[in-house]
Amino acid sequence: MKKSVGARPFIFPYPVFLVGTYDDEDVPNLMTASWGGICCSEPPCINVSLRKATYSYNNIINRKAFTIAIPSKEQASLADYFGITSGKNNRKFEDTGLTEVRSDLVDAPYAEEFPMVLECKLVEYSDLGLHTIFIAEIVDVKVDEEKISAQGKPDIQKVKPFLFSNPERAYFDIGEEIGKAFSIGRFYKS
Ligand SMILES: Cc1cc2nc3c(=O)[nH]c(=O)nc-3n(C[C@H](O)[C@H](O)[C@H](O)COP(=O)(O)O)c2cc1C
Repeated sequence: MKKSVGARPFIFPYPVFLVGTYDDEDVPNLMTASWGGICCSEPPCINVSLRKATYSYNNIINRKAFTIAIPSKEQASLADYFGITSGKNNRKFEDTGLTEVRSDLVDAPYAEEFPMVLECKLVEYSDLGLHTIFIAEIVDVKVDEEKISAQGKPDIQKVKPFLFSNPERAYFDIGEEIGKAFSIGRFYKS
C-alpha cells in the first residue's frame, strides 16, 4: 500500500545542469540547476526553472540565452560549488580556474572542461511561483570529440553524467544499460 509523502517536487531522476550566463558587465557565471529537462524534439528545446533570487535569472532575461553544460561524475564537487555560491558575490570561473569559452552561437559562456554543452536561445519564460520556467531552443550541442559515439552522438558511458536526488540531497552515479528502449517492451504487445 502506498502512503502520501505530500505534494512536493519529488521525481527520479533529477539531472545536474550547469547554466552558463553573462551578466551586464560580461562576467561569466555558472549555476547548478536540477529543475529542468528536454521539452520538445523539433525544434529541440530544453527547460530550466530558476528562482528570481539567483544571479542567473536576470542574466537569462537580459541576454535571452544560456548554455547548459553536463558535468561528469568526477566533476561533482565543482558542480556542487556552482550551486552553493552566487555570482552576486563570487566570480565562479576565477574561483575554480575553469576556462571560459564564449559561445559563437548564443550570447552566453560555457566552461571548456565539461564534456558536453548545449547552446540555448530563450524562447519564452513563465512565472510558476517560487520558480520561473525558461524554455529555450537548443541551437547546438558540443561534445568532447573522444566522448562522441561511432553514431555521432554523445556517449553516456564516456560523458559519465551523474544525478542529483532531492529527497536525499545527494549525488548518485548512473548504472549500467538495462535494455534497449523502444524495444524491450515489445513482448507485452498483443
Ligand atoms: C544540485 C543542485 C541543484 C539546484 N537546482 C536548482 C534549480 O533547478 N533552480 C534554482 O533556482 N536553483 C537551484 N539550485 C540552487 C542554485 O544553484 C543556487 O541558488 C546558486 O547559488 C545560484 O547561482 P547564481 O546566484 O550565481 O545564479 C541548485 C543547487 C544544487 C546544489
